[in-house]
Amino acid sequence: MTNLKQAILQGIPSELPTKRNINTSVSHAPNRKNILNKEEKQLAIRNALRYFPEHMHTVLAPEFAEELKTYGRIYMYRFMPDYEIKARHLEDFPHKSKQAASLQMMLSNNLDEAIAQHPEELITYGGNGSVFQNWAQYLLCMQYLAEMNDEQTLVLYSGHPMGLFPSHKDAPRVVVTNGMMIPNYSKPDDWEKFNALGVTQYGQMTAGSFMYIGPQGIVHGTTITLLNAARKIDARAEDLSGKIFITAGLGGMSGAQPKAGVIAKGICIVAEINPQATYKRHEQGWVDEVYKDLDELLDRAITARTNKEAVSIAYDGNIVDLWERVVERNIHIEIGSDQTSLHNPWAGGYYPVGMSYDAANEMMANNPEEFKKEVQKTLVRHTNAINTLSDRGMYFFDYGNAFLLEASRANADILKPNGDFKYPSYVQDIMGPMCFDYGFGPFRWVCGSNDAKDLAITDRIACEVLEKLMQDSPDEIKLQMSDNINWIKAAGENKLVVGSQARILYADAEGRMKIAEAFNNAIADGTLSAPVVLGRDHHDVSGTDSPYRETSNIYDGSQFTADMAIQNVIGDSFRGATWVSIHNGGGVGWGEVINGGFGMLLDGTADSDRKLKSMLFWDVNNGISRRSWARNKEANFAIKRAMKMNPDLKVTMPNTADDSLINSLDL
Ligand SMILES: NC(=O)c1ccc[n+]([C@@H]2O[C@H](COP(=O)([O-])OP(=O)(O)OC[C@H]3O[C@@H](n4cnc5c(N)ncnc54)[C@H](O)[C@@H]3O)[C@@H](O)[C@H]2O)c1
Repeated sequence: MTNLKQAILQGIPSELPTKRNINTSVSHAPNRKNILNKEEKQLAIRNALRYFPEHMHTVLAPEFAEELKTYGRIYMYRFMPDYEIKARHLEDFPHKSKQAASLQMMLSNNLDEAIAQHPEELITYGGNGSVFQNWAQYLLCMQYLAEMNDEQTLVLYSGHPMGLFPSHKDAPRVVVTNGMMIPNYSKPDDWEKFNALGVTQYGQMTAGSFMYIGPQGIVHGTTITLLNAARKIDARAEDLSGKIFITAGLGGMSGAQPKAGVIAKGICIVAEINPQATYKRHEQGWVDEVYKDLDELLDRAITARTNKEAVSIAYDGNIVDLWERVVERNIHIEIGSDQTSLHNPWAGGYYPVGMSYDAANEMMANNPEEFKKEVQKTLVRHTNAINTLSDRGMYFFDYGNAFLLEASRANADILKPNGDFKYPSYVQDIMGPMCFDYGFGPFRWVCGSNDAKDLAITDRIACEVLEKLMQDSPDEIKLQMSDNINWIKAAGENKLVVGSQARILYADAEGRMKIAEAFNNAIADGTLSAPVVLGRDHHDVSGTDSPYRETSNIYDGSQFTADMAIQNVIGDSFRGATWVSIHNGGGVGWGEVINGGFGMLLDGTADSDRKLKSMLFWDVNNGISRRSWARNKEANFAIKRAMKMNPDLKVTMPNTADDSLINSLDL
């Protein structure tokens, strides 16, 4: 048996391992606020000690107290394993169940140092998107996965492995809940408190559900958004070519914008105030050119538009200076957006104009009140420039970063007379009606062999399936099909893989089922060397209820309900998912969204074939039926098509009330 297998099977060691210092070469989570009173701190330490035999307590109790004092959390650094945590071939993980091995592969990828934002605090992305709360939970979970069989289910409560429960072979191997709270206890400080007590965690979307696949997901989503934004403003446009898109931010997610802009064949200008972020993205090849001089930059962009060049250009400076120079020079810009971190405006998410990055950071630490005023003044100027350019014909959309909300709080001129925002969000205008309502969403897969050769074969298979389907596709979805065919053809050469051998593309229910079926056949006949894991981002058709993002284009009042996400995960669990997950929080914040997802191992068997057909059909059509009931016409079209495909599907269809009748009522 390999050392890795032995270490995993050992679980929590019976003898105390030597104390470890944190690794200073990796990024660490910020220290969390000291929110617990003395009794609560004692409770947090008692809670942490539950994982360990009594003979360790005299050493561990003061150590955990120190962690709680220093970091605001108890991570149990001493128990970090010595081996490298990363995705490997399924057979490299100890297992009695292949399905359980696939979970070990996926969760290891989420904690890989090359992938995770703060690996030693078990955080994959988004600042607080946890896989587990502490290292004891990781060790115990891996041990359970190594020992379990196909008639057991592992139950995870916010990272805590409650244990293995007898079930049956068609049941999920793992059921994950993250951050589920009694609704009255879902404010941001509730997360701080109950996470510090060690009884809940923020799983984001794909962090605590083991489905994160590195930056590829965000590049694809941004590419699809930009292609469809271009078509929205120009019915003859196939892509972004000959159009200028201006935005801000070259950080974690926003750094995908220039790469996606070039894949969409456009001219993408991105302002970034932090020179380190700008030059890092330039070195990585994610942005082509960097300018400090605004006029040189704008001249370059105009030449690129004339020549229909696809190029990404960074402005090393503040976005407001860029927008105001564009206004002064009266340059026509086709599309505008923003991806500064305005969900976090007072603590470094958004930098005021007229001062350097370092000066702003100093003001933020030493004079937070003044900093707040400068941020709000900047937001007013930012909005004025966008308003002027929009009056001249630019299409502007909010990219899910709370730009509209914070601009309105700063009293910028961002509201219509009726109190609505002047601009739409990307889901209201683009993703919702053009993708989600038709069932198109972020389907993904990961090769269990961890071999790039297998990934290339899956790319080819997926492309063949989509090309075949496109021959009979209705006009309404042809463009989505061809975008994803183009994406998958170029995916290999775009070198998007970091960590596990994974791929994403947008597909509807039929596309997802047909691709999955073809993979299952290829595993059965040996074309693929190992099983494949299927999954998706929670940011999808059916998985997420979030009134200002995924369900912002639901207008029947139900955008504030969460029945869809809960129904989805329950439905997936009895139709064949290998694991299911449901989370409070993710993207827009704790208490603001409920989101869920699944993972499914395809192993080339008839059982897999049955499960994939049953579960994927439900996983997409649940959300389409809800979108159709909300009277979204694209979803109406898609659900009627689904009912024709499967006569066992019978969905309640809405009747439409006449506007003049409603308006004539004496209310
Ligand atoms: N890409 C998507 O699909 C998507 C989807 C939903 C939400 N978002 C939102 O986008 C935002 C950005 O996410 P991220 O992970 O890239 O965050 P991040 O903090 O890593 O990056 C934001 C960048 O903006 C820069 N910045 C801030 N103020 C600036 C200014 N005035 N001028 C120029 N640059 C400035 C910062 O220096 C930083 O590098 C978040 O609010 C996120 O929730 C993105």
